[in-house]
Amino acid sequence: MEKADFYDFFRKIPKAELHLHIEAVISFDSINKFYMRKFPGIGKDEAAREIKKLFTYDNLDGFIQAYLQIQEMYESVADFDLIFSDLKDYIVRNGISYVEVFAAPSAFVKKGFDFSAMVESYSRNVRKVKEETGVDVRILIDVSRTFGAENAEKNLQLLLANRIPEIIGIGLGGSESKGPCRDFGAVFEKARDNGLFTVAHAGEDVDAFSIWDAIDILKVSRVGHGVTAFQDEALMKELVRRGIALESCPMSNVFTKRYVKSLSEHPLRKFFDEGIMVTLNTDDPLFFGVELVDEYWNAYSQMGFSAAELKEIVKNSFRASFLDEGRKARFCAAVDEAWG
Ligand code: HPA
Ligand code: ZN
Repeated sequence: MEKADFYDFFRKIPKAELHLHIEAVISFDSINKFYMRKFPGIGKDEAAREIKKLFTYDNLDGFIQAYLQIQEMYESVADFDLIFSDLKDYIVRNGISYVEVFAAPSAFVKKGFDFSAMVESYSRNVRKVKEETGVDVRILIDVSRTFGAENAEKNLQLLLANRIPEIIGIGLGGSESKGPCRDFGAVFEKARDNGLFTVAHAGEDVDAFSIWDAIDILKVSRVGHGVTAFQDEALMKELVRRGIALESCPMSNVFTKRYVKSLSEHPLRKFFDEGIMVTLNTDDPLFFGVELVDEYWNAYSQMGFSAAELKEIVKNSFRASFLDEGRKARFCAAVDEAWG
């Protein structure tokens, strides 16, 4: 398939995205506005140049610092309306039918944002996206490795005190090398006991043992990235045996430079061949300049996936989601129908 045909076709196929950070789905234009508000008098082009400087980093921890600087530019909970408006445009542009998105409250809580106001905004905006597009968005609160276990526990407590149906679980993003899974076991157990789903970034910046810890200590349902599973044959078999899905974000891994230097080196192909339930995701579209249909195109044009194989990966995006079995089956049938 030629590129233009591929994009036309894939935009029309129903698909879910399961690994996306809400603060990084904001458009470049919106961040530019925030920047100009923060530094009054600065021109649009100069603001753009300054923001682009933020987007240069050599590793995951550098990226996380840049991410925190972007979060710094939000002035109040009212700014979340713009993120969700950009999320809505992103959903429509990419033909997405269902989203599970991370929201990372730590930096905002530290700035003094009121958690219950944040939750009210998430809830209202999720309902607005649903009204305008028909698409369900569900939120996973990223309790974060970066600020330690006490901060993660605090995030969980705030969440439990402000339950809304739109927030369905927790995730663990942030610095994998500085925040090992064992520090967060108790937080994840408490989340599960309270009926929350759990996922964790693991094997993005640390060797395969970190993925073992995520599945054995945190007992997560899905692993974010999971790149270093390629190091451990027994781990890959165990992921298959337990039906644990990987939320692969190939372009993100190229940008954070730890284990893959190019898309063609990415182990996604190997994981698929091993029978692991892999999904395709963007992680942070603002930072990596990549949207969901681009990830599918890259897998097709640079990573050796056929269109038929990508159809399985599209279906995996629903199978690996936290939707109920009936909705998963209906979405998979809708994929078959759209495929023709
Ligand atoms: N890893 C860790 N933390 C993050 C990421 C990521 O890929 N994206 C946003 N926060
Ligand atoms: Zn991520």
